Amino acid sequence: MFFNQRKLKLIGFVVFCILLGFGFYEGFVNIENVSSFTMPRKQLRVNDHELYDKQVSNYEENEVNNVNNNNDVQDVKSRLHELEEKVHQMESKTDNRVPKIFPSVKFLNYKNRRRILVTGGAGFVGSHLVDRLMLEGHEVIVVDNFFTGRKRNVEHWVGHENFELVHHDIVRPVYLEVDEIYHLASPASPPHYMHNPVKTLKTNTIGTINMLGLAKRVGAKVLIASTSEIYGDPMEHPQSETYWGHVNPIGPRACYDEGKRVAETLSYAYMRQENIKVRVARIFNTFGPRMHMNDGRVVSNFILQALQNDSITIYGNGEQTRSFQYVSDLVDGLVTLMASNYTQPINIGNPVEHTIEEFAMIIKDLIGGTSKIIRLAAVEDDPQRRKPDISRAKKYLNWEPKVSLTEGLKKTIAYFVKELQRTKHLQKDMARIPFVNDHNIVDQL
Ligand SMILES: NC(=O)c1ccc[n+]([C@@H]2O[C@H](COP(=O)([O-])OP(=O)(O)OC[C@H]3O[C@@H](n4cnc5c(N)ncnc54)[C@H](O)[C@@H]3O)[C@@H](O)[C@H]2O)c1
Repeated sequence: MFFNQRKLKLIGFVVFCILLGFGFYEGFVNIENVSSFTMPRKQLRVNDHELYDKQVSNYEENEVNNVNNNNDVQDVKSRLHELEEKVHQMESKTDNRVPKIFPSVKFLNYKNRRRILVTGGAGFVGSHLVDRLMLEGHEVIVVDNFFTGRKRNVEHWVGHENFELVHHDIVRPVYLEVDEIYHLASPASPPHYMHNPVKTLKTNTIGTINMLGLAKRVGAKVLIASTSEIYGDPMEHPQSETYWGHVNPIGPRACYDEGKRVAETLSYAYMRQENIKVRVARIFNTFGPRMHMNDGRVVSNFILQALQNDSITIYGNGEQTRSFQYVSDLVDGLVTLMASNYTQPINIGNPVEHTIEEFAMIIKDLIGGTSKIIRLAAVEDDPQRRKPDISRAKKYLNWEPKVSLTEGLKKTIAYFVKELQRTKHLQKDMARIPFVNDHNIVDQL
């Protein structure tokens, strides 16, 4: 036969494929529409006109929708583009940010590295102690409520793997795992501790109990920062640790003086009753960089007044004496005391004594300027003489101050000059008011 069965099957298959292809084409392209619109209107039959008009309006509607959809897509695309740009900018900002460079610290192995808590570590003395302990390679936790301390004093350590800054008030208990506690938290200058006498008492009593309790729980050694103020207005001169003091228990300074006396009492009660390892440092007047500029203490007052060519004010006749130690000497003393086995209170101060008037003259000479020295009425309960007997510290700690008054004052004056400049810059910045409002602050950064 001319068409055998195989050929017939092939022809059938080809026809099927053509029909299938045609079906698909019709599905994708609206052939009816295309053909209708490509055909002139007048060629259509009359009853087809209605259908034609309907199809035209449908087509136009579709076209409008398509245009709208296209606009939406464009809109989304441009917004995506904007977002991409912003992400890019933020990425490049973070890439360009210089990683923080920390002062290089000693490496200590696990056995020698200690976990040390410094309460009040953002304050003047505390921050210098933190520097020393960090540089020695220890792990340091600062607990501070920032009443008189500043983050700026320790900001150079923030982010370091050995350092932790905790915002906490020690009047509330704190739970930490530490080997040593330097308990320094307490306002230290008269205007600060008299600002809220009850709080000063709570910090030195309840706060000290909390620290001794923590020391008991974790078996840590604790060093209490006491003060020469526990001697009050002393009847014995120079003051040795065996002197019991001459304190007015109800005067304006009592919140601090008696608070510190109770802190000492508590320490020895915990030592006797709970076997806590206690160290008590009776700190005498200390000065140096990071001390408070406006705390009304002799050194800061005189430096600030001389730098601003204001009158240097002496309260009383100027014959009262003070001895000042430089802060690095104090830190040496504290660290040595903590490392020692000595458990009795110990004076840490500089025994070189000067009258207040002499201080005024020395500072005026170092700074120069046109300040005059003037005298004002004496302050209530202001001790007349203050000079440590440091024979204990010499004997048991082999410690004595090394930095001379002039050397220390020069460093402190340099710090005050910088701080005054910084304050001026900040005041200028404030005048600029760079940010409009808080809603678009991120954009303005
Ligand atoms: N600087 C001196 O001349 C001197 C003299 C004798 C004793 N001391 C003692 O040394 C310690 C440190 O003195 P400083 O001169 O550095 O004072 P400072 O005011 O600069 O530092 C005290 C720190 O303790 C913090 N603090 C206060 N109350 C707190 C609380 N309830 N909880 C947590 N933190 C709190 C403050 O914010 C601050 O950072 C004090 O205990 C002070 O009594 C200092």
